Amino acid sequence: MSPAEATEARTYGNLVAGEWRDAHGEQTFDSVNPARRAEVVGHFARGGARDIELAVQAALAAQPEWARTPVPARAEILARAGRILEERKEELAQLMTREMGKVLTEARGDVQEGIDMAKYMAGQGRNPIGEVVPSELRQKRAFAERVPIGVVGCITPWNFPMAIPCWKLMPALLAGNAVVFKPAEDTPLVAIKLAEVLIEAGLPKGVLGLVTGFGEEAGAALVEHPEVRAISFTGSVTVGHQIAATCGRLGKRVSLELGGKNAMLVSADADLELALEGAVWGAFGTTGQRCTATSRLIVQEKVLKSFTDRLVSRVDKLRLGDGLDPKTDVGPVINEAQLRRIHGYTEVGQQESARLLTGGKVATDGALSEGNFYQPTIFADVTSEMRIAQEEIFGPTAVIIPAKDLVEAIQIANGTHYGLSVAIYTKDIDQALQAVDRLEAGIVYVNAPTIGAEIQLPFGGVKWTGNGHRAAGTTALDEFTEWKTVYIDYSGHLQRAQIDTNAG
Ligand code: UN1
Repeated sequence: MSPAEATEARTYGNLVAGEWRDAHGEQTFDSVNPARRAEVVGHFARGGARDIELAVQAALAAQPEWARTPVPARAEILARAGRILEERKEELAQLMTREMGKVLTEARGDVQEGIDMAKYMAGQGRNPIGEVVPSELRQKRAFAERVPIGVVGCITPWNFPMAIPCWKLMPALLAGNAVVFKPAEDTPLVAIKLAEVLIEAGLPKGVLGLVTGFGEEAGAALVEHPEVRAISFTGSVTVGHQIAATCGRLGKRVSLELGGKNAMLVSADADLELALEGAVWGAFGTTGQRCTATSRLIVQEKVLKSFTDRLVSRVDKLRLGDGLDPKTDVGPVINEAQLRRIHGYTEVGQQESARLLTGGKVATDGALSEGNFYQPTIFADVTSEMRIAQEEIFGPTAVIIPAKDLVEAIQIANGTHYGLSVAIYTKDIDQALQAVDRLEAGIVYVNAPTIGAEIQLPFGGVKWTGNGHRAAGTTALDEFTEWKTVYIDYSGHLQRAQIDTNAG
């Protein structure tokens, strides 16, 4: 894309009843390239309660007919969306890098994760939707089937602007729900592109509504809307807990995915070269802005010095830059507020007497000063109770915590409020399986980094990371369906369960 094209920012509206409309208040906000803040990617409708109302009304009107559409026909639309995403993969990946900064190879992976989810859910369209169970009485049939919830709200983060919306929208739509989608204010354009793809694939008008804007305005209105029967949210703990409180008050279903403080355990017998590669990718891939990012390296004392020295020398070679530049290893962070927050944690670490081994500064060399760049940062001499070992930083900062043995390493790994993803590097099968057994986490990796979940498995975590739900995988439909149990008695006379049974 030429610089001239890149600077031509359009104004985009909200999707209501299948049409793109200006926000009710006619105010807009900008999405900017975090690698070059002066570059505006687009102007977007600043949606509010009125826009949510319109999208919900359209969704309510469209949902019953969508629910009556045979599941294989709904699935065919998702399959078509998957094919369109595949055709546009490169264009969408480039746009994603411009809008949120991740390096292009990772942006391609993000779009691929969306394609995978579309195809996976399309494949579910001819799978069983329930179970047939024997009745205890004669001439009586019993079965239970999944049914849609109605209108559901999906609120998504900016760090996986294609993958996470697909994790939510594809199963929600397959299940026969109508969806009102509120994407993060930092990545409205990728969200709009996904909605355009779904419409092009044949999704009927109103089945998907999209309102861009801010959490306090559009997001809150969606959560509070009485006709929106379920909310699926991925984001911060603070906001997630507020949403859960509101949904609790309104008797509404809510599923939460709220991040992590993920650990990599490096055992004394580990293949150190492999562990180092995994640590660099896990901690600094996506500039550390994954809920699965490796933010704690719990290293057994015997290999602590050699692991630490080799890690620092690798991290010092990482090249910061625009994600569209093929030489870049680490892209910018999403916005200036995050840049300040990440640096705030460097200051916290120093106050806590952790030892800063490398990084720790906003990167301002040459063109980097035009964007939101932070040096990859590592702290050593960290103990488990320090804030930098407990709080999710969501940036390119990792801490090294020494452990004397596996038992202590597991204890440290489990010693946070979070429980998303943990990795153990060891060649010892006993250590590996003991870790699998004892780690309090939704996802455990052996000899692989904490990032890189695949869509055909359940994704989510324990403790503050979630509230018992899992995205994707065989569990994908659980978030977006109710169960209806059906009994059919064709005996022609009253049969009383538990009383008139053959067992007498
Ligand atoms: C997230 O960081 O919110 O497992 C999702 C991974 C990716 C998904 C991350 N497939 O790292």
